[in-house]
Amino acid sequence: MADMPAAYGDDPPEAADHPDPPTAAVQLARHAHRDPAYVRLEGVHALKHAVRFGADVEVVLSPDPPRLHALLAELAPDVGLPVPVTPVDMGTWRAVAGRELPSPVITIARRPPVGVAEVLAAPGRLVVLEDPRHLGNLGAAVRVAAAASAGGVLVVGDADPWHPTAVRGAAGLQFALPVARTAAWPIALTTGVGPSGGPRPVVALDTGGTSLRAGAIAPDAAILVGTERGGLSAGIRQHAELTVAIPMRPGVASLNLATAVAVALYAG
Ligand SMILES: C[S@@+](CC[C@H](N)C(=O)[O-])C[C@H]1O[C@@H](n2cnc3c(N)ncnc32)[C@H](O)[C@@H]1O
Repeated sequence: MADMPAAYGDDPPEAADHPDPPTAAVQLARHAHRDPAYVRLEGVHALKHAVRFGADVEVVLSPDPPRLHALLAELAPDVGLPVPVTPVDMGTWRAVAGRELPSPVITIARRPPVGVAEVLAAPGRLVVLEDPRHLGNLGAAVRVAAAASAGGVLVVGDADPWHPTAVRGAAGLQFALPVARTAAWPIALTTGVGPSGGPRPVVALDTGGTSLRAGAIAPDAAILVGTERGGLSAGIRQHAELTVAIPMRPGVASLNLATAVAVALYAG
């Protein structure tokens, strides 16, 4: 426990049992989570998706390269690693990982320079998440948005969609579609020109809306999803021209945020 940082904001401790000075690859892996130019990906699934969707990978670090290669051969035989694996001893691995990881790989890639304007201009549906509090939920929403071929994901608030926990929750699928964060409601969403020539239809997901039916959500709609505890704020909901509810059995208060996104994208 003593050598495990509490959060990614902390620097992992130096490896006590690693006698050699860290290489440039290890240095980058240790600090990438604090550098907005980089993305840290944990695990084979995130590595697999990042490579498939064109990530600019700089470091692949593993304490057990043969096991990593075996896992890749089993889970992603189509994926060729763009850089050689950097092998590390267990002390260095623990220092970089910061905690037990189930999978023997950490990948560092360049963060794609995607801004809010690029997300707003993306063809297809946009998923707009208001102030998500749980990075795992945020990641799961990105994952299903990518799977359902949504145009992009925009986070309104302070949660970073490229945080390692969100990247893990999305299995690295941030690389599959434009994803960005904005501190405040992007006014261009309702006033600007969307991919089909006018402003996008804006649809709120809220338990108080009208029952969701197939085809209710336009192919270029922005789908607004509220925060975990409080749901959509009045300030954001006011931008929606339609509010839809996913029917639930009496007594059930709400669906998980990412589950609601999944239902809306696949059934709406
Ligand atoms: C965990 S829920 C928030 C629950 C919150 N207590 C509320 O009443 O809105 C997070 C978000 O998921 C979406 N959501 C969850 N269940 C839903 C449902 N049955 N119909 C429509 N949207 C739903 C909404 O956008 C909601 O703001």
